[in-house]
Amino acid sequence: MFQELLSSEEAGCDPIPSRLLWATNRFRMETENRRTRRYGKHGRQHWVFLHVLVVLLKILLLIFRLYRRGLRNARRIQVESIDLCLENLPPAFDGYTILHISDPHFDSMPGLARQAAELLDGRDVDACVLTGDYRRHSHGLHRRAMEDLEHLLNHISARDGVFGVLGNHDDCHMVLSLESLGIRMLINEHATLERDGQRIRFVGVDDVHYYFTDQAVDVLERTDDGTFRILLVHSPELFVEAAELGINLYLCGHTHGGQVCLPGGVPIICHLDKGRRFARGVWRHKQMTGVTNRGLGASGLAVRYNCPGHMLLLRLRRDPGE
Ligand SMILES: [Fe+2]
Repeated sequence: MFQELLSSEEAGCDPIPSRLLWATNRFRMETENRRTRRYGKHGRQHWVFLHVLVVLLKILLLIFRLYRRGLRNARRIQVESIDLCLENLPPAFDGYTILHISDPHFDSMPGLARQAAELLDGRDVDACVLTGDYRRHSHGLHRRAMEDLEHLLNHISARDGVFGVLGNHDDCHMVLSLESLGIRMLINEHATLERDGQRIRFVGVDDVHYYFTDQAVDVLERTDDGTFRILLVHSPELFVEAAELGINLYLCGHTHGGQVCLPGGVPIICHLDKGRRFARGVWRHKQMTGVTNRGLGASGLAVRYNCPGHMLLLRLRRDPGE
């Protein structure tokens, strides 16, 4: 298939759109279950182990009468405001606001979209970014999650639009549904915004936790022209390449901040192959600032402990030393 596609370009035909190449490859990885994890694959035992872990956790929580509390905790979502002091931010974007929503897993928690919409109503932001995992499972139908997302988006006013990427629970078919909601999906693609002749750029890559390909790194290289860049990616696991290739701000989620944490918010499991220290909150790697969103919803068991779900209201501030 790939040979045929590439040979048509070599023969002088119109180049094959990179979206088509991406979709072909992604679909093959999904259907053949060839998820390319950045730091090695997990075998079948890993998934069996995870399933057993979830069942055991539920039994333990029921025995110790903590299960209902966990369900209630997961419903206690917040809007959290964070000011980010950033080097090289163009002055025209000082004060720029970004609403960052990640991991809603809408169909895990019916009514979550309505609750989140009530929290957001009346807030104006400059941009809204979505960093993946819109539905509960990594397979099957996504219609209900899309209806919930549409409801939430109707309560968000983002002057420069809504930008999104896919997570490891999202399949390639969902891109069309997401774009039909008005979201500008960035699949190893970028979007540049301009104010007073100054520019910032959103760069989005496909999920790197299950579906890492060279295209994720290619787009980082291709967009490296000195413009202030904000990377949208589902998980923090691309931090090495992103910092090396000059990304200024890295926005991600995936970890749910641990979801089930020890007192003090110490995560037990983060589902990261690398970068566990970036499992939640604001972090720094070399010149790059990163933010790992704790997520809006919950997966596995819809419970949370010592780790409330949230949406982030980020305000970009220019480094006063500049
Ligand atoms: Fe995820």
